[in-house]
Amino acid sequence: MEYFTTTSKPSQRAVDCIIVGIYDRGKLGVAASDIDTASKGEIRRLIKSGDISSELGHCAVLPGLAGVKAARIVAVGLGKSSAFGARQFRKAVAAAATVIAKTKAKQVLNGLTLETVAKTSRYYLARHTAEAFGEMLYRFDKMKSGRQPAGSSLTKIGFAIAKQADAAETKRGAEHGDAIATGVSLAKDLGNLPANVCTPSYLARTAKKLASGNAKLTTKVLNETEMKRLGMGSLLSVTAGSKEAAKLIVMQYKGGGGEKPVVLVGKGVTFDTGGISLKPGLAMDEMKFDMCGAASVIGVMATVAQLKLPMNLVVVVPTVENMPSGTATKPGDIVKSMSGQTIEVLNTDAEGRLILCDALTYSRRFKPAAIIDVATLTGACVIALGAHRSAVMSNNGALRKELVAAGERSEDLAWPMPLDEEYAEQLKSNFADMANIGGRYGGAVTAACFLEKFTDGLTWAHMDVAGTAWNSGAKKGATGRPVPLLAEMLLARCHALP
Ligand code: BES
Ligand code: MN
Ligand code: ZN
Repeated sequence: MEYFTTTSKPSQRAVDCIIVGIYDRGKLGVAASDIDTASKGEIRRLIKSGDISSELGHCAVLPGLAGVKAARIVAVGLGKSSAFGARQFRKAVAAAATVIAKTKAKQVLNGLTLETVAKTSRYYLARHTAEAFGEMLYRFDKMKSGRQPAGSSLTKIGFAIAKQADAAETKRGAEHGDAIATGVSLAKDLGNLPANVCTPSYLARTAKKLASGNAKLTTKVLNETEMKRLGMGSLLSVTAGSKEAAKLIVMQYKGGGGEKPVVLVGKGVTFDTGGISLKPGLAMDEMKFDMCGAASVIGVMATVAQLKLPMNLVVVVPTVENMPSGTATKPGDIVKSMSGQTIEVLNTDAEGRLILCDALTYSRRFKPAAIIDVATLTGACVIALGAHRSAVMSNNGALRKELVAAGERSEDLAWPMPLDEEYAEQLKSNFADMANIGGRYGGAVTAACFLEKFTDGLTWAHMDVAGTAWNSGAKKGATGRPVPLLAEMLLARCHALP
């Protein structure tokens, strides 16, 4: 995608399409007002006739108007002007993008970037625009046979700005938004692929491909023999029932000199049947999404590599398939983790933590400035927070706040959850150092408590994305979350934000 900025009046720009906004009570946005004047009151007439609505996200496509150089105008409702913030901006652009993706427009000019939007900046308006278009242009039809309907032909997105001084921030926002869209799309693709294609080996190949031709990025893949040598008995116990080979993917991006890296660890269960503690059949297909944590951290790596950020980043992905079979781990089996701690596997469906704990221990060698794991870890998290916010637990208050704040700024929301030691008592085992489940209550927290036992001396946070990583129902599909949140956090850490 190409991006440009323009200080000319929207009505005077000969583009395929312009987005203009209409507030509640007939108040016109800046670009809408310009178009209205140029067309001798056409916009106001259409509002009066009811053909343009001001309801947030409602769109009307207007063919060329006399006095206006653009071929078409998309008038999008912005709702109440007093309530118009970054989130409303994002919703309005997304709605317009959906409509535009269905037209033949090759270039679009976003007139909404002329609005004054509370608590945000030119940078975020441009970035949200690029991200929203990336979102709307995303298609996943590679598994369908035959000819698919042609996608959008959009190649250029422009931003209307009031003064040339706004250009630099706007361009930077577009560049970052584009890179985030790259990461989100990759994460979605990996999530949406079925488990018979997206196996641990497939994830490993994808990670290798990302590194090929990039001098700053290297990918190493450990096989089961190497993991056994390292003592990863916990991780290997999950793959015991599967014919697919487990992998430990290690991606290292070096863009920041000698400083300590941020390490991201992603749960890569390419299919979670539950193992011997077999899941019920209903919607079990969705357990192909149980590698969305892995997909998101690989996606973040793609974003960072595209932006060539001046920082050091390590991505570690333990990836396995969780299957029942004659060789599978059984409830009650006791396994030894790489840390030396023993675990009684009371439920083979609590497998995510079993692979993550060994990945966390392995990651110590990178001496992380901070380590964050991302996992579709618990159904309990979906009950607690639903589909809107990811959970953040941490042994470090500053890191937890940093992540939640990055979620707010990037519109990829998260919420803090507790990690009191009292919860950890639920993990007591009569036979081993700990059990892998903590009973019915507070399941998202006890899962995090389990991981915490492997983070002594580390600045660590855990993100449970079980509710946010994919949509169910008619819109079934991966969301690419929390790529925007993590990208935002890293951008802030390397001072790349205005
Ligand atoms: N991958 C699941 C968590 C999950 C379930 C995510 C449903 C999204 C939707 C995880 O491996 C799992 O099965 N967790 C168990 C843990 C339990 C056995 C303690 C769960 O949440 O039921
Ligand atoms: Mn499970
Ligand atoms: Zn799982």
